[in-house]
Amino acid sequence: MSERKPMQHTLIGFVAGLAIFAATSASAQTPAAAAANDGLPVQSDLVKAKCGSCHRSDDKGRMSRISYRRATPENWERTIKRMVTLNHVNLDPADARSILKYLADHQGLAPEEDRPITFDAERRTIEYSYTADKDTSDTCSSCHSFARVLSERRTKEEWDLLVAMHRGYYPLVDNQPMNGGQGFRRTRPMQTEPGVDGRPPDNRHPMDKALDHLTKTLPLVTPEWSAWSAAMQAPKLAGRWAIVGSQAGKGPIYGSVTVTADASAPDSFTTETKYTVARTGESITRTSKALVYTGYQWRGRGTSSSGGNDTWREVMFVERDWTQMWGRWFTGAYDETGIDVKLTRVTTGPVVLGTSVASLKTGTTGQAVRIFGANLPASPQAADIGLGAGVTITRVVSARPDEIAVDVTVAAGAPIGPRDVSVGGTLKAAALVVYDKIDGLKVLPMAGMARVGGNVFPKQLQQFEAVATNNGPDGKPDTADDLNLGLVTVKWSLEEYTATFGDDDIQFVGTLDANGLFTPNVDGPNPKRSGNRNNVGDVWVVAELASPDARQADRPLRARAQLLVTVPLYMAWFEDGSGK
Ligand code: HEC
Ligand code: HEC
Repeated sequence: MSERKPMQHTLIGFVAGLAIFAATSASAQTPAAAAANDGLPVQSDLVKAKCGSCHRSDDKGRMSRISYRRATPENWERTIKRMVTLNHVNLDPADARSILKYLADHQGLAPEEDRPITFDAERRTIEYSYTADKDTSDTCSSCHSFARVLSERRTKEEWDLLVAMHRGYYPLVDNQPMNGGQGFRRTRPMQTEPGVDGRPPDNRHPMDKALDHLTKTLPLVTPEWSAWSAAMQAPKLAGRWAIVGSQAGKGPIYGSVTVTADASAPDSFTTETKYTVARTGESITRTSKALVYTGYQWRGRGTSSSGGNDTWREVMFVERDWTQMWGRWFTGAYDETGIDVKLTRVTTGPVVLGTSVASLKTGTTGQAVRIFGANLPASPQAADIGLGAGVTITRVVSARPDEIAVDVTVAAGAPIGPRDVSVGGTLKAAALVVYDKIDGLKVLPMAGMARVGGNVFPKQLQQFEAVATNNGPDGKPDTADDLNLGLVTVKWSLEEYTATFGDDDIQFVGTLDANGLFTPNVDGPNPKRSGNRNNVGDVWVVAELASPDARQADRPLRARAQLLVTVPLYMAWFEDGSGK
């Protein structure tokens, strides 16, 4: 396919767009509308040098196209990549990074604008629905997440030109099944009769409605951005941070992160992280390098000290007071493996972060519990540690500033429910629960997805986990007082999800290991399958728990979740937007 032809096509849109812009500027405008069209002057000599041959500056330093939009680092990166791949801009990687940094910092999103869409940069697979306008949602979320749209703010002309860009590069959008098969075309037959409500018909094409909506709701100039761009400071994040996280299949992690400012470049940092997987005691150290965009968007890349091929990306939101950052660290061909993290700045006082166990059973003695934290007392006495009603500390086994190991006894009649953990004068609310029996079992996620791969495309894995539950003080399942007892070790298996007669998916889709990690089979047609089909299918993932702690100890608890094993992502609609 030729890349040049669609480019010319778009250049026509580009020039025509400028003509529209000139026309509207000349017409009478309210002051507010004039301000919205003002454009953001570009002060970077590098941007002017590298982009100025095609994007001319006017007498106010505003460059065509560039000055009329704001975007997240990921969207700026995508645009810069497109300039290189489709518009043949010659850029070395260092210049590309500097341009990306300048544009994200000076024409970025305010924290309030970014907060609702952080899941996109964090690469979470969630179902997001944009409810503010149905036409816009239908028209703009069939290929990419609506978050990509919410990652930008533009003038009216720039929203129009964006549509021109889509049509130029992807002529197929005109025939997409959205809007009842109209795609991006504006060729709906005109209605002349009034509607049933007697009002004149709204003959705007859904695309025009969408453009009106985008222009109104996502304008270039907003109070949020005006305030943030003036208030923003280079973040001073150096120091010690406590990290609390949760990884699917492994459960909670606790540890600390030392952040060091990297003297070689502003807003750049190196980190050293040490954390413990609470359930297993496994200890992991990682190092990373990160850059903070727009004063609050942490984008890092790190490896574990055990070496190997395990680069993880770090996407975090730095809160405005610089005492917390949160987000997701992730890896995998589809970014499917990750830890949800929250970092809190450590001051000189003690903090309790969590415990090695999620739950304690009544009527038990000598149970080992480790308490994770920072600046914990050097030689605590049993009396300094509290776990609430019915739980007695029988021995302090060891103590370090980041971890205290104790043995506990739980009275047979201890009330069930959440317990706070206190050490000296510091307390972690609802750190664990006390329970009497296991009432239920749950497999999470309730609906998982994997993609076959390994030949041409990479595999997408799916981790499942099993969580035990207690019905809580009311004794009824699925009510607000149910207690989550944490991850439990179960027997995993796959069962046929009968979608078609004589279904045989289970023989082909892949394997589930002893830890609940599903690895799909290879991609491509399989001659051993009827119809030479790919190794795709629908199956049940089943967990079985035989435990003496179960309320009905005579029969094992069972729970299941659905797993869809599908084809690879052949079209990279979502190319790597890592900001690297
Ligand atoms: C060789 C000419 C050329 C150079 C150099 C160039 N661009 Fe572009 N740019 C274009 C063309 C053509 C379009 C319209 C088609 C498109 O959007 O890809 C465009 C469109 C854009 C847009 C609007 C995209 C959108 O999403 O609607 C932005 C922003 C942009 N360029 C930024 C840059 C930046 C930043 C640089 C410097 C790194 C740059 N351009 C360098 C040719 C160029
Ligand atoms: C047919 C699939 C498709 C539909 C429908 C679609 N998009 Fe896109 N969109 C894409 C692709 C592909 C890209 C990536 C372009 C690139 O960088 O090469 C993209 C990129 C974007 C970008 C980033 C632009 C940039 O400069 O990188 C924005 C913003 C966007 N789309 C908004 C929209 C809006 C608004 C709508 C609805 C009016 C929409 N999209 C509908 C496929 C689609």
